[in-house]
Amino acid sequence: MNYHRFDCIIVGAGGAGMMAALESSKTVGTAVVSKLYPTRSHTGAAQGGIAAALANLENDSWENHAYDTIKGGDFLVDQTAAEILCKEAVECIYEMEHMGLPFDRTADGRISQRRFGGHTKPNPKYDPNAAPGTEAAKPRLPVMRACHAADRTGHMILQTLYQQCIKQGVTFFDEFHMLDLIMVEGECRGIVAIEIATGELHTFHAKSVLLATGGFGRMFKVSSNAYALTGDGPAIAYRHGLPLEDMEFYQFHPTGIYRLGILLSEACRGDGGVMFNGKGERFMEKYAPNLKDLASRDVCSRSIYQEVRAGRGVDGKDYVYLDIRAETINKYKTSPTGAEVDSKWVESRLPDIIDFARTYLGVDPIKEPMPIQPTAHYAMGGVPTDIRGRALRNAQGDIVPGLFSAGESACVSVHGANRLGTNSLVDLVVYGRRAGREMAKYALEREFQHLPSEPEKATKDMISAILSRPRTEPWVKIRDEMQQVMMDDCGVYRTEAGLTNARDTIARLKERYKNVGVQDKGSVFNTGLLEVIELGCLLDLSEATVASALARKESRGGHSREDFPDRNDNEFFKHSFVSLNPDGVPVLSYKDVDVIMIEKDGQMTTKYPLEVRKY
Ligand code: FUM
Repeated sequence: MNYHRFDCIIVGAGGAGMMAALESSKTVGTAVVSKLYPTRSHTGAAQGGIAAALANLENDSWENHAYDTIKGGDFLVDQTAAEILCKEAVECIYEMEHMGLPFDRTADGRISQRRFGGHTKPNPKYDPNAAPGTEAAKPRLPVMRACHAADRTGHMILQTLYQQCIKQGVTFFDEFHMLDLIMVEGECRGIVAIEIATGELHTFHAKSVLLATGGFGRMFKVSSNAYALTGDGPAIAYRHGLPLEDMEFYQFHPTGIYRLGILLSEACRGDGGVMFNGKGERFMEKYAPNLKDLASRDVCSRSIYQEVRAGRGVDGKDYVYLDIRAETINKYKTSPTGAEVDSKWVESRLPDIIDFARTYLGVDPIKEPMPIQPTAHYAMGGVPTDIRGRALRNAQGDIVPGLFSAGESACVSVHGANRLGTNSLVDLVVYGRRAGREMAKYALEREFQHLPSEPEKATKDMISAILSRPRTEPWVKIRDEMQQVMMDDCGVYRTEAGLTNARDTIARLKERYKNVGVQDKGSVFNTGLLEVIELGCLLDLSEATVASALARKESRGGHSREDFPDRNDNEFFKHSFVSLNPDGVPVLSYKDVDVIMIEKDGQMTTKYPLEVRKY
């Protein structure tokens, strides 16, 4: 047996994993196990910015940021967690600046900030009696809150954190793919991983294990997510009987490259870009009269679907245009300051986007608009945690000793039913850091606990079963069918009939999956084997997502039920927890949303009262 022992094992080398590693390795031995080379982690694909109310370009406050986050999440956000996010965002940005992160700068040398959807400030000139459509009629206005390094912010964060981890002596096991958690008497005591280069299994014995494995957008046909985003952490936790929280809330980013799904950053609209339908109309004026193209992502994605369904897609097809030409920004007066811009300015702000459009679309966005469609982008749900990153065992809030999660694989619930753009990067660093701190503290207080005699047995059996089967059932067909049904029936819009079809289809695919084999029976870089295993994770997470979506008979944030079009706070102002019962069937339970109460005029009242969400 290849045996390793560390106080803290961190699975995943994205922003959350490396921030946690930086923190825990200050006091205890820490290793990061990642199926990718660390700087290839998906944090590197985050483009437009990271939110923090630095107020470098205009007045702002963490309280504004918290309000936007809670409203953006359609009030399903846990409010203490959101306040922590927005307060600690500011110090995390300065911490990374001091590490050397090359943020863009303002003219006077401070960190530059840009606008993003749903990030606002109160309008000082607001007049509830003002004529509709006038500036004074808008209660809130967009604010420049997203700190950025051109449109490569995630890339810069990843490089910076990796350098710091190396400097601090964190041990990395690159291209080691976690295949199991070692759970003993309800505690997590380590993981089992396969070394991709050799096919050998390794046991990692730990006191604290962090799941920071990222999202699982590959369950959908059109996604901004890289191929590696298969939700390994949440899927393995779910198989061990642990719950997943708020799985029905999956975000579609409005502006993916048509058909390919590759992200075209919301920074395009933050910097003044505008979406048009096939008739050349700026359709967001209809759906979000105040913020228009800077409404939240769920609102923008639904609006695109509405336009397409009404036959107003471009050439009657299922896409619309995103236009970032300087002449368009000037015509609609949508630049961040209202000042005129030129093509050079656009190129300096969005170099990667322009490159992507030229490369993947053959379209030059300096001269013509880009065809776009909503793309599966971000999981609001995941492994439930408390604000210290500790994984929860149930909706009552009991913890799983030794197990932690942070980043997109986790659900501390700062995003509720819909995440605001730029709030994922800040979630990674704020809650990655918190989890790292807590893991170290937990490890310092404990001895290593014994492992079972054969910790790798279940993994060995799973691999032998796949390798011994003939390749009669191609895994690619199962993957394609899963992605299609999830896109069609569990995507931007959902119905009982569609979700029931998705549930039954996934159940059938899971049966067929039991017969899947691989052509390559070898052990060296057997990527076919790993893809089959990853598909198993995606099937389990699809099952959990559909079960949660079927049970939530309301529309809220990223979960839009055409048969229940309204938000129903009476019945569904609560988080869902889905877990497998002893027969392997997903069952739901619910947890109250954390609401902050304050005293006002001698009475206790909610700090963030529920309101109808309008942009
Ligand atoms: O649009 C973007 O640049 C993506 C950012 C995010 O998902 O936070």
